[in-house]
Amino acid sequence: MRLVTTTEDLRAWRRGAPPTVGFVPTMGALHEGHLDLARFARSQNAAVVASVFVNPLQFGEGEDLARYPRDLAGDREKLAATGVDLLFAPAVEDIYPPGFSTAIDVGPVGEAYEGALRPGHFRGVATVVGKLLHLVVPQRLYVGQKDAQQSAVLRKLVRDLGYDCGVTIVPTVRETDGLAMSSRNLYLDERERRAAPSLHRMLRRFVELLKTGEPFEIARAEAAALLEPPGALDYLACVDAESFASLSALRENSFVIAAARFGRTRLLDNIWLPQ
Ligand code: PAF
Repeated sequence: MRLVTTTEDLRAWRRGAPPTVGFVPTMGALHEGHLDLARFARSQNAAVVASVFVNPLQFGEGEDLARYPRDLAGDREKLAATGVDLLFAPAVEDIYPPGFSTAIDVGPVGEAYEGALRPGHFRGVATVVGKLLHLVVPQRLYVGQKDAQQSAVLRKLVRDLGYDCGVTIVPTVRETDGLAMSSRNLYLDERERRAAPSLHRMLRRFVELLKTGEPFEIARAEAAALLEPPGALDYLACVDAESFASLSALRENSFVIAAARFGRTRLLDNIWLPQ
């Protein structure tokens, strides 16, 4: 696997790259969930590019940019083992040269839920992924289902700006106790880690209750009671998978989504209901 750290070298590689390129953008601190994206991309493309870039634009004030876990050497080894051809790990100044001021805002799909709790977050995500897509020019982009709203934002970005690129949403990889894999799980202390799988149990119960015809608010309250302390619920909701508009009943192609704080760490999870 080749390591490239400048946009100039990436462009030079891209000019001679095979016809189908799959792209896996990441912020590093890779876990099995990321590696699954890379393996998926490997099975479907002649060449695979992964990026590791901790994107300052998507961190708000008081968020964890400085303490975000970084392990480029470890990430490099893990990606090489999945068969990735090129790892792009640029410096911040290469992606955002002095004076950089362009932003991509995809509108309402990124405004509620994570967008409301983390103002500017999805603008940062859309801007960096928009730029990376211009540099890598992939035929297919791979993103994880765990960040459901991000996946909706990126599908909208690709559609609205006409990138010639498909978007593949890869199912969430879980620990044996059901906790969705996330780089942020590293921050949990012992008590928080023990309580964290209750986030997924809560989602499963919510879906179960709705499927048996329980009224929405009653189902939500009963399911929310399953979140174990010190978990503090930010939201438990049902949304349209494309627009992320709130729903008050399950319907075809929806997500049941939840976010909760465990100490200083916010965890997200969801269940996709294709029909
Ligand atoms: O999901 C992430 O790791 C990031 O939001 C992404 C898509 C790599 C953009 O920085």
